[in-house]
Amino acid sequence: MLFKSPRGTKDILPQESRIWQEVEEKARKVFDLFGFEEIRTPILEESKLFSRSLGDLTDIVQKQMFQIKKETDTLVLRPEATASIVRAYVEHTLYNSSNVSKFYYLGPMFRAERPQKGRLRQFHHIGCEAIGCENPALDAEIIFLASRLLAESGVEGFNIQLNTLGCTPDKKMFGLNLREKLQPHKKSFCEDCQARLSKNVFRVLDCKNKQCKDIIRSLNIGEGHICDDCKKHFEGVKEGLALFGVSVTLNPFLVRGLDYYTRTVFEITHPALGAQDALGAGGRYDHLVEELGGPSRGAVGFALGVERLMLVRGREVFSEDLSSPLDCYIIPLGDAAFKKSVQILTDLRNVSVSGDLDYLGGSLKSMLRRADKRNAKLCLILGDNELAKGVVLLKFMKQSTQEEVPLGQLVDRIKEVLC
Ligand code: HAM
Repeated sequence: MLFKSPRGTKDILPQESRIWQEVEEKARKVFDLFGFEEIRTPILEESKLFSRSLGDLTDIVQKQMFQIKKETDTLVLRPEATASIVRAYVEHTLYNSSNVSKFYYLGPMFRAERPQKGRLRQFHHIGCEAIGCENPALDAEIIFLASRLLAESGVEGFNIQLNTLGCTPDKKMFGLNLREKLQPHKKSFCEDCQARLSKNVFRVLDCKNKQCKDIIRSLNIGEGHICDDCKKHFEGVKEGLALFGVSVTLNPFLVRGLDYYTRTVFEITHPALGAQDALGAGGRYDHLVEELGGPSRGAVGFALGVERLMLVRGREVFSEDLSSPLDCYIIPLGDAAFKKSVQILTDLRNVSVSGDLDYLGGSLKSMLRRADKRNAKLCLILGDNELAKGVVLLKFMKQSTQEEVPLGQLVDRIKEVLC
């Protein structure tokens, strides 16, 4: 029986994995530059953590969580990391810090969605959360950071859409107004939106169905529901963005699929992504820390979808050569040579020279072909003749030249030619 990776999951094979490593490395460098520190939380979390923070009626909680029931516990594979990080922040009383806590994370998330291009059941986030501050300039810096991360990966042509949802009372009022405005059009909405109208009215605003979109665009959604404090905060975000030199598109229709957001929300889209055009998204969630049992702390963050980033990344900022580079490939000809080769290999690795040994044997020609396929810079050929003379035949693969090197000088000579 042939097995395949489960629907909506993907193997990342070695060549692609090298690009992932580069993306992750670039991200870590940028986060370091911005003063963020890595946090790693478990992939398994209590189911209630997400119903409490994302909201009982959200699509993720209603339909998309992979649940594991074990004895009396109901665990889920995390669908996102913000709730986990806030849980860890509260659990470890990190709120006692006198400064903003800045965390970044990289890792897999799980959502039982219908798979399609750019939409997987296991996907990866590169994200960050800054907890302990309500200053709108921080929202701006967070958006700047997201755009910097994308720029480092050579992503161009993305669009940052920005909106404010206002505080909790503003959101409530917006919900009521929206329901009132949408109700007369109920029959013209798609089936999902008809259900959303009573359950989760904000979600109607980001329905992809053309007819629903047309109705929504025809409505006049102003800033009427936003209170003065939240308007001021939003002005602060826009001023901050101007300071950081980030341009955004204001989108009063932008809402987010997760309940924890208040005030600033943003989404980064890319036209090359097609239907699933969100490259990343984030915003402020000033009540989540309290909601999960901590004190009142403002917070803001975002997450980029790595698989989607891969679809639109700039090829030129990544290494051209995707095959793993190997310094040395050792070809032993015979049993005695094999034993000596193991020792040479260890000596080389001890001085940080990468090496591999031909374990398959066969003709010299076939072993050289394998060395070539492994992209080795040098080939070390060792047979009975070489052993008797106390030398190794060093072959320069690119130049197709070779020289005999005394065994005692081999490591130094290799280090010399490699640098
Ligand atoms: P989100 O919008 O649910 O936000 O996910 C962020 C990004 O993850 C999306 O913009 C998209 O690029 C990617 N993504 C989401 N679902 C999938 C999927 N099924 N397949 C592939 N990629 C996907 C959050 O998760 C929030 N926790 C972001 C945040 C952090 N807000 C504040 N802090």
